[in-house]
Amino acid sequence: MASVTAFGIDHRYIVIPAMALSVGVACYSSYKLYSERNDRRHQNVYETKKLLSEYLVFHYGQPNEILKYDFGPKDALDFPKRCADLCLKHYKPKAGVPARAFDIGCAVGRSSFELARIFDDVVGLDYSQRFVDTCNQLKLDGLINYSIYDEGEITTDLTARVDKTIHRDRTRFIQGDACCLPADLGQFGVVLAANLICRLHHPFDFLWRMGDLVAPGGILVITSPYTWLAEYTERENLLGGYYNKDGQPVTGFMTLLKSLGPFFDLVDDINMPFFIRETARKNQWTVAHATVWKRKSN
Ligand SMILES: C[S@@+](CC[C@H](N)C(=O)[O-])C[C@H]1O[C@@H](n2cnc3c(N)ncnc32)[C@H](O)[C@@H]1O
Ligand SMILES: *[C@@H]1O[C@H](CO)[C@@H](O)[C@H](O)[C@H]1NC(C)=O
Repeated sequence: MASVTAFGIDHRYIVIPAMALSVGVACYSSYKLYSERNDRRHQNVYETKKLLSEYLVFHYGQPNEILKYDFGPKDALDFPKRCADLCLKHYKPKAGVPARAFDIGCAVGRSSFELARIFDDVVGLDYSQRFVDTCNQLKLDGLINYSIYDEGEITTDLTARVDKTIHRDRTRFIQGDACCLPADLGQFGVVLAANLICRLHHPFDFLWRMGDLVAPGGILVITSPYTWLAEYTERENLLGGYYNKDGQPVTGFMTLLKSLGPFFDLVDDINMPFFIRETARKNQWTVAHATVWKRKSN
């Protein structure tokens, strides 16, 4: 893939059969590009204290800690738990389908812990070392103290807690790049990528890997608000949100259907609202599109 991309052929139009073979080369090229771009930019927002605080309250906050008004979109709370529940709703334990789950872009880990209610082997992976360290601390202690921003420099101290009934030792957290996943992960019965694809530098490299990561009969859940942003993804690598050279709109969902279709059946797609608290009075309300894919048999 590296040489093809280097020659300027638009790899959106290349179909995938030799996917697994290309992983090594694709990884190398995307890693190199990404490191260079990261150096230039110096700061990964997901390493900052502000984002850590926003994600801790997003994942573990009690309803009144996130949304203190008696009005507002309550059905947008607990998004990471609803993501895990959607995986579990579609996963059918069956001989040959590994009872293992993989949460890619796990952030501070709530979905991974929820998946550990059912699976005794859950891997959470994130690019942010700070997020992975936080997951490991939650795994060790079951709780973590943090503060949220209310107004300017004024904060409130909170504690994030993993439900006591969850076996935290069933989880394992690693730092890594979703566009260049380790080769030795094995296969999974459930793979979750929640609000990840529009944050990736090379989202096609990620999609190409899904066919061999999800075991036949296994489930892949992708949620995305399809907010394609130049700060995360160069235009030529976008999955959607642009007009092609014939002037036709290309959406993220269209590209998912085209890229995953040869290997997966689309079994469900739903709207999933979520609510991210920034300060006491400023919040993000977003509706992600969740698509559920079942890996075809080989
Ligand atoms: C919008 S957040 C979503 C987090 C979580 N899945 C959720 O739903 O709350 C995107 C996450 O993807 C991670 N991420 C960004 N680029 C990544 C990459 N190349 N590989 C792995 N994780 C990445 C970020 O660090 C962040 O935790
Ligand atoms: C968390 O904060 C509480 C006070 O709110 C304190 O009693 C406790 O020791 C702290 N725990 C850790 C692990 O820092």
